[in-house]
Amino acid sequence: MLHKAGKRPYSLLCYKRAGKRPYSLLCYKKYGSLFALYLGPHYTVVVNNHQHAREVLLQRGRDFAGRPSMVTTDLLTRGGKDIAFSDYSPLWKSHRRLVHNSFTLLGRERAVDSLCVELMSAGCRGFDPSPAVTRAVTNVVCQLLIQYNNGIVQTITRGGLVDIFPWMKIFPNECLSKLKECITVRDRLLTRKLEEHKVTSTLSKGFKNLKTRSFTCCSGRGQKSPGSEEERITDDHVLMTAAEAFGAGVETTSTTLLWILAYLLHHPEVRTPGACAEGAGRERGSERPVCMSDRSRLPYLDCVINEGMRIRPVSPVLIPHTAMTDSSIGGHSVSRGTRVLVNMWAIHHEPRHWDKPDLFNPDRFLDNQGQRVTPSYFLPFGAGPRVCVGESLARLELFLFLSSMLQRISFSLPEGAPPPNLQGRLGVVLQPLPYKVVVAPRAGLGGRIQL
Ligand code: HEM
Repeated sequence: MLHKAGKRPYSLLCYKRAGKRPYSLLCYKKYGSLFALYLGPHYTVVVNNHQHAREVLLQRGRDFAGRPSMVTTDLLTRGGKDIAFSDYSPLWKSHRRLVHNSFTLLGRERAVDSLCVELMSAGCRGFDPSPAVTRAVTNVVCQLLIQYNNGIVQTITRGGLVDIFPWMKIFPNECLSKLKECITVRDRLLTRKLEEHKVTSTLSKGFKNLKTRSFTCCSGRGQKSPGSEEERITDDHVLMTAAEAFGAGVETTSTTLLWILAYLLHHPEVRTPGACAEGAGRERGSERPVCMSDRSRLPYLDCVINEGMRIRPVSPVLIPHTAMTDSSIGGHSVSRGTRVLVNMWAIHHEPRHWDKPDLFNPDRFLDNQGQRVTPSYFLPFGAGPRVCVGESLARLELFLFLSSMLQRISFSLPEGAPPPNLQGRLGVVLQPLPYKVVVAPRAGLGGRIQL
């Protein structure tokens, strides 16, 4: 029998009162590594240690690969036509497989250099600026996405009690109205883009792959055709996938970068180019931008990234899982339909595994020989059947963005400003509170680091 955290009303209160940081107030210190509570009518198991987390995610990953249905996420995903909030099913599996392949392709094609760098690199030679400018304008369109994305990030799963008591959606709800508005903007924009792409067929290789495989199989717009699971992927799935690339992809990656930058501002000793380029400098002295193949030669930078994801996991309780069948965790039986929250915050701050867990210390990801180590209790992307579909893309982006930024730019605090607040604000991801920086090109390196 699992320890139950309080009586029903108290448990709900505990969750409500947790407010900004529910993940840390999941009472793990008080109730131990595994306990259950009622979130409204939903019996929910909270997993606070890595052995039980590995049971849920890996050893019995299939048993716990379900997702609960919630009012806000159903709205966002047209009733689960995405990957993250869709329940486990053969259709979800094919959708996930298709998207995984597409993201891999997209990752290889991504460029990280900014417009300025591109323009400057042409020096005084005459050149046609149009390709670079076109890309910059495309970024402006992305600003639109940022507007609706911010709205979604701040409201999703924050409709308050409506995700716990769905019947409450009949009452006026400010968060829910804002969410609906943002979804309308998103859908208008993405539908228009999808229609354009259908006509011009100029989609990037990865997305085209998904589209071709989806649309050639669909008999009509938005209609499901009979046949294999892949054939049942509709326009809605393609649209929700595009939306998810922004939701699950952009917010998580940019937030992780912002957290790392915030910690680097607190720890100036870590952000020296020498520290991050350690290893590569020994190879040979050449001035050039960092590229993916440098990754193996910049182990310390990977440690900085890992430490950022450990100390401030953007998804502190992952995405809720549900038991699809009667199963067990740590020898305790768990019945079908139970919601399971994996408290990655607790796992990443467990003092038995992490010395001084609240200290930002990238060295903890190096062994005595200075080799990179990845402990089994470090799971920033989750694991198993529901592991983050964008993990390799995210790792690639984090490496390229961070190395390029540290290579070219020196970051500091504005005169008299306090260092960034490290508390965080919980929406669908755990974001740092806004902070300001002053940037300058790195002195003596001409904007480039010695590699
Ligand atoms: C630093 C960046 C990122 C972090 C830390 C991160 C972390 C996570 C975590 C913890 C989960 C939930 C796993 C679970 O519920 O067990 C997840 C799921 C997911 N992530 Fe990421 N993610 C990142 C970037 C991305 C990117 C770039 C994409 C796509 C472009 C992406 C797409 C997804 C999707 C689609 C899911 C749902 C998978 C499923 O339910 O099957 N993520 N991510």
